[in-house]
Amino acid sequence: MNTHTTTHIIYGQSPAIQESLRSAALIAATHVTTFITGETGTGKELFARYIHQKSTRKNKPYITINCAALPENLVESSLFGHKKGAFTDAIENHKGIIAQANEGTLFLDEITELPFQLQAKLLRFLENGECQGVGYHQARYYDVRVIAASNKNIHQEVKAGRFRQDLFYRLNIVPLELPPLRKRIGDVALLMSLFFRDLVKEYKITAPTITKEAQLCLQRYTWAGNVRELRNFCERMLILFSGKTIGIDNLPTEIRQQRHTKRDFVFHLPSQGIQLEMLEVDLYEQAIQSSRGNKSAAARLLGLSRDAFLYRLKKYGLR
Ligand SMILES: Nc1ncnc2c1ncn2[C@@H]1O[C@H](COP(=O)(O)OP(=O)(O)OP(=O)(O)O)[C@@H](O)[C@H]1O
Ligand SMILES: [Mg+2]
Repeated sequence: MNTHTTTHIIYGQSPAIQESLRSAALIAATHVTTFITGETGTGKELFARYIHQKSTRKNKPYITINCAALPENLVESSLFGHKKGAFTDAIENHKGIIAQANEGTLFLDEITELPFQLQAKLLRFLENGECQGVGYHQARYYDVRVIAASNKNIHQEVKAGRFRQDLFYRLNIVPLELPPLRKRIGDVALLMSLFFRDLVKEYKITAPTITKEAQLCLQRYTWAGNVRELRNFCERMLILFSGKTIGIDNLPTEIRQQRHTKRDFVFHLPSQGIQLEMLEVDLYEQAIQSSRGNKSAAARLLGLSRDAFLYRLKKYGLR
């Protein structure tokens, strides 16, 4: 559990995260059901909140429920509500989360953990807004945008018969797949500098500086915990190395050692080989194109300094 004040700004300039932001903005303009997937710490909860805040529902309730955290026998009444006396512990009428989220957004986190027998009931709600509280004979109808999320492979859950296929299709009308950090290493340095900037304000101490070598090592690390792991790393480094320089030897062993172990390569060398220089030129051109000619932005996309980038462009006789 993090105690620091969480901001809701989504950082990142890599094409992958920019693409996710564009999709999120389009989704926010509609009331469509959305399914956010991505590894742990990639920002699913952050994006769900972003979609709500960008939508016309922003001044209405935003309610989060973690399907894995509720005891199975309570999920139904928590979501749909119950009538007093419907079961032993139902000592009062309970409105239910869906009713509380009316006109707003409901974020169903870890959706694959929703008990199987409730999946059909949720599907009914998604299809026509029907909400049948436990112990009630009549259904009520609510207008709630649902955003679901999971870091599990839902296809596997469907295949194994643990998750209803019809519900999956209904949730997945507009999927939003958040990229893991190792697939956007250009963002590592940027996120670090922004996290340090935020944390410096919070702790009121000086940021450390990081040597080029250590920086490269951090970019090569796989970050299994993604942005959460990176942010926690920054917090630890700030506290331990405030005002000092962080070299490669100061990095935690798990990060340092990964230099020598097999890792999930961002680019796989095909068995027939490649033309490295052609690939380089191609990437430079793509970077310039996607940053619409802004050389500094293009350099960032490639994890290079502006000078290093300009030098390479000159070397290949590119503008
Ligand atoms: N692009 C980003 N910019 C800034 N902060 C981010 C970004 N992505 C994630 N974070 C931060 O990283 C932490 C983890 O993000 P979040 O809780 O949204 O991840 P998640 O995908 O829901 O993870 P889990 O699957 O473990 O629940 C949060 O503190 C969040 O604010
Ligand atoms: Mg989450």
